[in-house]
Amino acid sequence: MLSIIKSMSLQGLEGFLVDVEVDVSAGIPNWDIVGLPDISIKEAKERVKIAIKNSGYEFKSRKIVVNLAPANTKKEGPQFDLPIAIGILVAFEEIKRQDFSKTIFLGELSLEGQIKPINGILPMCIEAKKLGIKNVIVPKENAEEAAIVEDIEVIGVEELKEVVYYLNDEIYIKPTYVNIEELFMNTKEYQLDFSEVKGQENIKRALEIAAAGGHNCLLVGSPGAGKTMMVRRIPSILPDLSFEEALEVTKIHSIAGTLPQNVPIITTRPYRSPHHTVSISSLVGGGRIPKPGEISLAHNGVLFLDELPEFNKNTLEVLRGPLEDKKVTISRVNAALTYPCDFMLVASMNPCPCGFYGSKEKECTCTQEAINKYMNKISGPLLDRIDIQVEVMPVKYQKLKEDGQAETSKNIRERVNKARKIQIERYGNYGIYSNSQLTPKLIDIYCKIDSKSSKLLQIAFENLHLSARAYNRILKVARTIADLEQKENIEAKHIAEAIQYRSLDKKYFNN
Ligand SMILES: Nc1ncnc2c1ncn2[C@@H]1O[C@H](COP(=O)(O)OP(=O)(O)O)[C@@H](O)[C@H]1O
Ligand SMILES: [Mg+2]
Ligand SMILES: [Zn+2]
Repeated sequence: MLSIIKSMSLQGLEGFLVDVEVDVSAGIPNWDIVGLPDISIKEAKERVKIAIKNSGYEFKSRKIVVNLAPANTKKEGPQFDLPIAIGILVAFEEIKRQDFSKTIFLGELSLEGQIKPINGILPMCIEAKKLGIKNVIVPKENAEEAAIVEDIEVIGVEELKEVVYYLNDEIYIKPTYVNIEELFMNTKEYQLDFSEVKGQENIKRALEIAAAGGHNCLLVGSPGAGKTMMVRRIPSILPDLSFEEALEVTKIHSIAGTLPQNVPIITTRPYRSPHHTVSISSLVGGGRIPKPGEISLAHNGVLFLDELPEFNKNTLEVLRGPLEDKKVTISRVNAALTYPCDFMLVASMNPCPCGFYGSKEKECTCTQEAINKYMNKISGPLLDRIDIQVEVMPVKYQKLKEDGQAETSKNIRERVNKARKIQIERYGNYGIYSNSQLTPKLIDIYCKIDSKSSKLLQIAFENLHLSARAYNRILKVARTIADLEQKENIEAKHIAEAIQYRSLDKKYFNN
């Protein structure tokens, strides 16, 4: 007796349909799962059997074959426990036969028959809806996340027995419903706010420009200067997250299992700060059951690399491709997965090994040679992708003591939103949305400067010994500064300010 129960699996960020075909026949008692299941699914065999028994049903001695179709696609994850158990219970005639063609089942079983939450519910349900699925039976803890997808009926369940009763019409379970608009509008608040940062007007200004133009940036300064404090607040001044962006962020965190409890949709831009000991696969993604890495968890938000020179050179090297492509491809034995990773890179570092080179508070104890070696740890190609550099000095005690509120993130974000809107409209046809993405060709078109600016740049180049690479970065940043002022043309003062954000080239990097 064959029963077919529908379920879902994942390939990268997308869900795909899996038919769980359960065939139970009188033959030599045996039970097997076929159709390219991975180890986690093989483990399902024992779990399902014990869960069925512990839910009070007989596990009959039959020949049972479970086939996961399509057979040629690798399937991963524990979500097939529930559909397999349902298929078997239908074949055992514990559940009445019915039309299962428009229903998907997802859930891991505990040995006691409890249904445990799984990762990736949102992308699976999004795809299910596209395929015309009408009902989804999911772990109760995942029900709100599933309900983000409109026009499918979500039934959240806690126990295998409960699902059997439900399918046999012995109990009613209220479908889960969430008001997405309300959820999205009400929770767009950031926990951390720039109003908490005293002084540091010049750094805040630089970060506002970075946020407006999507520019990667580097903060150099002594320990305690406030670098981490400010960087953690950058997501709150980035342009508002659209619903589509929020959905994309949520999909990634759903798959990675990093969705906070009771948060069906992420409504604020992510902030990730992997430690410098992070492994390459945790950073870019991968693993036995592949998961998005930190760079994808930072998608549409901020990736903060604190203490940049402490990172392994190879680790930083792998960031080059993703920084350029805004997506990362992970090769697997019989497939390649792609995850998006469009993040704003923010890095911080001390100016020298002891941390106090150039500081007014404390004497630096490093030799020039040690300082050079420290700075040289940062690879040129990475530095190449950083448009804005700033030196952070600690605020004076007096400033810290002053009350008086600094400007809120919301205020700053309003200016950023306006500047970004100009860019989106200007570059609409080119498939880019911010000044940081300008190619040399587009720089020629959109970053024209007058003779006064040109003269200014020439002087800066001679005095600061700037490189040709720095030239384009200055133009891009100047474009953003002009956009913040809603100016059509780049003016000399915009250029002058942009030049400031390269002052470390000469001081530290010989770049
Ligand atoms: N401008 C500031 N306004 C308010 N508090 C500050 C400021 N700068 C530093 N602090 C305080 O000092 C602490 C240490 O700063 P932190 O951001 O960790 O420095 P860094 O990352 O540069 O070593 C912060 O958590 C904050 O409490
Ligand atoms: Mg810090
Ligand atoms: Zn030092």
